[in-house]
Amino acid sequence: MTNRTPFIVANWKMNFTVPDALKFETALTHELKATGEVEIAIAPPFTALYSLGVTLAETPYKLAAQNVFWEESGAYTGEISGAFLKDVGCEYVIIGHSERRQYFGETDETVSKRIRAALRDELVPVMCVGETLPEREANKTWTIIERQLKMGLASIFLKDVERFVIAYEPVWAIGTGRTASSAQAEEVHSMIRDWLSKNCDGATAERVRILYGGSVKAKNAREILTQPNVDGGLVGGASLDPIEFANIIRCAPQRSQSN
Ligand code: 13P
Repeated sequence: MTNRTPFIVANWKMNFTVPDALKFETALTHELKATGEVEIAIAPPFTALYSLGVTLAETPYKLAAQNVFWEESGAYTGEISGAFLKDVGCEYVIIGHSERRQYFGETDETVSKRIRAALRDELVPVMCVGETLPEREANKTWTIIERQLKMGLASIFLKDVERFVIAYEPVWAIGTGRTASSAQAEEVHSMIRDWLSKNCDGATAERVRILYGGSVKAKNAREILTQPNVDGGLVGGASLDPIEFANIIRCAPQRSQSN
């Protein structure tokens, strides 16, 4: 039995202008009259954070950012600090997404710095971990994920870890239409929870929410989201369509009632 609230996050990546973002919000609110016991967050591009944040403040949806820099302010052209994200109403921040690792030189070290900065500024990190296809084929999935967890959670207090959200996103399943099977997802999620139990403690491991990301769609969401150690989804492409996104949210189990 678990009382972790299911959590569905829309990662819009580099999509949607401010008017697009507001139109989406209106359509989603219209489509989804009640969210049930599911927590929902939207991570728009930086440019839409403020306007969307103002609108979301009237709804149950939370605001998330897609990245954060570790310094508080200063001469860091092009960067955004946690305090600025907090200022526009963000509660969550995605850190270490594989697209950042792949295209923007993100490393386990920079992920760790961003996580510490997020916590300092009272944002909840959604830390992404996941293996590439060659790594999976070489049976290195767990070695990679364990390294990412170890580095990401290094020198973080237990009281902070329990607020964490971890997103398992197999790189080979992102934007490819190729989803991990529910068994593959559950296997890695349960290994992450065991790792948390051994390296933090059992109570912390029980509280941390572990999301799955990688080609989640309304048609595969129920199968994945009902796995015992899958506490929600980090949704890319399918989160750009309000009806599809609402249908994914409807697939999340109402855990405290059903278990
Ligand atoms: P897709 O849902 O488009 O595969 O993207 C997943 C993802 O990267 C979410 O962060």
